[in-house]
Amino acid sequence: MKTALIYVAMEAEAQPIVHALTLTPFQDPTFEKINSKLFKGEYGDTKIILVTSGKDQKLGVDRIGTDATVYVCTLAIQKYSPDVIFNAGTAGGFRSRGANLFDVYLVEKHAVFHDRRVDVPGLKEYARGTWPTSAHLVSDSLRKQVGIKAGVLSTGNSLDMTDYDAKLIHESQAVVKDMEGAAIAWISHLHQIPFFALKGVTDIVDGEHPTHEEFLRNLSRTATEIAQKTAGLVRTVIDTKLI
Ligand code: ADE
Repeated sequence: MKTALIYVAMEAEAQPIVHALTLTPFQDPTFEKINSKLFKGEYGDTKIILVTSGKDQKLGVDRIGTDATVYVCTLAIQKYSPDVIFNAGTAGGFRSRGANLFDVYLVEKHAVFHDRRVDVPGLKEYARGTWPTSAHLVSDSLRKQVGIKAGVLSTGNSLDMTDYDAKLIHESQAVVKDMEGAAIAWISHLHQIPFFALKGVTDIVDGEHPTHEEFLRNLSRTATEIAQKTAGLVRTVIDTKLI
C-alpha cells in the first residue's frame, strides 16, 4: 500500500481537508509531544496521513513558516516513508498575474524563496532555490477537471512584503506567495519524493486592502475551497496512478 502525506501549517486549513477526505484523528507520541495533529484515512490503494505544524507551546498559535515545516516534515518522512507529499494552504495572490481571491493554484515548475539574500556566487542561487514540484505529471485537462489554476510559488517567512521581496518575486514570475511551500519542495527534493502544492488565495498582495486584514477575513472561505481542491487532486493522483 502506498502512503500520501499531506502537510498543513494551520489547523483552520486542516479541518476542512480532514472532513473532505473523511480522515480520522490518531495519536503518535512523537507528534503529540510537539502538539502536532495527525489524521489518517484511505483512498483506493493509498493510505493518507495528514499532519499539522502543531501549536506553539507558549503562544498556542499554529507554527507557520519554514522552520516548523522542515522539522515536522522530517519527522513525518522518517516515520511514515511517504510515496508522495502534498502541501495545502493559503497564499497571497498577485492580481497583476491573474490571481483572484479564493482561486486555488497548483504550484507548477518550482517554488522559490524571496527573503534570502546572499550575494555570493553559487550560494546566491542556492539561497533563492528553484525547488521542483511534480505538477508536470498533472495534465492541463486533469488540472482543469479538478478546478485549479497553475503558477509559480514564492515563499518567505513574512506575511507582508518588502520592496526587495517584491523585486525578487517579480523576477521569479510567481503568482502566489506563502510561508511554507518552497521549504517542503526542498525537503521533498532532498528525499526524491514526488511533491504537489496547492495554494488558495486569501489576499491580493498587489491590491488595495491591508494583507493581514484580508487574510483573516477570507481564511475560512479559502480553507473550504482548498479542501475541495485538495481532495480532488489527491483522488486524481491516486486514481490515475500518477505516482
Ligand atoms: N498566506 C496567506 N496570505 C499570504 C501572504 N500574503 N504572504 C504569505 N503567506 C500568506
